[in-house]
Amino acid sequence: MTTPLKILIIFGTRPEAIKLFPVVKALAADPRFMARVCVSAQHRGMLDQVLEIAGIMPDHDLDLMRPDQSLDALTAALLVGIGKVMDLEKPDRVMVQGDTATAMAGAIAAYYRKLPVDHVEAGLRSGNIYHPWPEEVNRKVIGSIAALHFAPTETSAAALRRENVAASGIHVTGNTVIDALHWVSARIGAEPGLAAGLADLEARFADKRIIGVTSHRRENFGGGLEGIAEAVRQIAARPDVAIIFPVHPNPNVRAVMDSALAGLANVAMIEPLDYPHFARLLSIAEIMLTDSGGVQEEAPALGKPVLVMRETTERPEGVEAGTARLVGTDPARIVTEIFNLLDDKAAYEAMARAHNPFGDGHSAQRIVEILSHEIGQQA
Ligand code: UD1
Ligand code: UDP
Repeated sequence: MTTPLKILIIFGTRPEAIKLFPVVKALAADPRFMARVCVSAQHRGMLDQVLEIAGIMPDHDLDLMRPDQSLDALTAALLVGIGKVMDLEKPDRVMVQGDTATAMAGAIAAYYRKLPVDHVEAGLRSGNIYHPWPEEVNRKVIGSIAALHFAPTETSAAALRRENVAASGIHVTGNTVIDALHWVSARIGAEPGLAAGLADLEARFADKRIIGVTSHRRENFGGGLEGIAEAVRQIAARPDVAIIFPVHPNPNVRAVMDSALAGLANVAMIEPLDYPHFARLLSIAEIMLTDSGGVQEEAPALGKPVLVMRETTERPEGVEAGTARLVGTDPARIVTEIFNLLDDKAAYEAMARAHNPFGDGHSAQRIVEILSHEIGQQA
């Protein structure tokens, strides 16, 4: 029997864990591969929530989260920590996902060792290096290093081709977030108790129309977050509405939301939800209001209108499909858009059509097959 290909999969935040657990599981189930997992724990609690539900036990945990960490300190610690793990593991290939500091440092550390890098969710581009910041540049750095680029859509593949990435390395796979969403929905179907923790809120807001809110983007810190908080305050003034807002633990987010929204009767500011509970929130919400990347992909898949509190998006597919709309962070604009969807049934229904430009739920398996083809080429 041939030696399995050793792949070191590196991640550190909640969204990376959600989007990589389907790939880790698919690689672990395939004897052609040896999957080794290194978590930076750039996030701690939110990462652990995903590891637990997905049943992933990391082989290395760098435990790097520090309160309100600077990008400089985080990136420096990531490079040193990940480099040491690479020297110990001596993998054949390295896999990273998306655009976080962990993903970028993982790609650079691999490059310093001349290890091939495989990039999941490659080719997302907004065209503006400050929106999202610093993710747009993180993605470009990874894109300039990667050997295999797993682009979720034809749009992202085209963006890579425009940057002269060799076509032979670009593969359109769909986004693994849809695999994760299918997986968690099936788990909840089999075990409804997994998402039952919202029952009290659901009972409290039984006669209300639910709006789900998330926000964490660095480029929205300061004025942007204040605009978002003000919008939520004004929306909550409507008696027919309730807002469920799992607040990101980043202190820059918490401070603004706590001071603007504490004590409002129909705003529930809660701790980050684990993935089954967030999937439940997506299913009970009439509208999602977010600056998140992943939520822009999940909401269209479920036919939930999603208003995106950003100026640009590197995920234009949801906007093109009509399920997502960019609304920025100006409170007047956000409130107008939300009220329009609440009050105009035709406007709501025009957006609320399930559309799934981001994948069919089989992206992880596709990635594994492409990797195995790659081994065949090298053998
Ligand atoms: C990071 C990513 C961003 C991604 C986001 C997903 C970078 C530069 N940013 O942003 O691309 O969209 O994660 O959520 O890689 N914290 C906790 N507990 C946690 C997680 C975070 O307390 O479980 C707090 C800590 O004080 C931490 C701070 O949040 O220092 C910021 O975390 P960090 O990973 O630097 O940035 P995010 O804003 O979460
Ligand atoms: N999510 C979650 N619990 C929450 C909020 C979000 O599980 O309380 C999930 C959500 O379903 C999506 C991912 O986290 O898959 C998005 O993460 P985040 O918004 O932190 O990061 P981004 O996608 O913007 O990088």
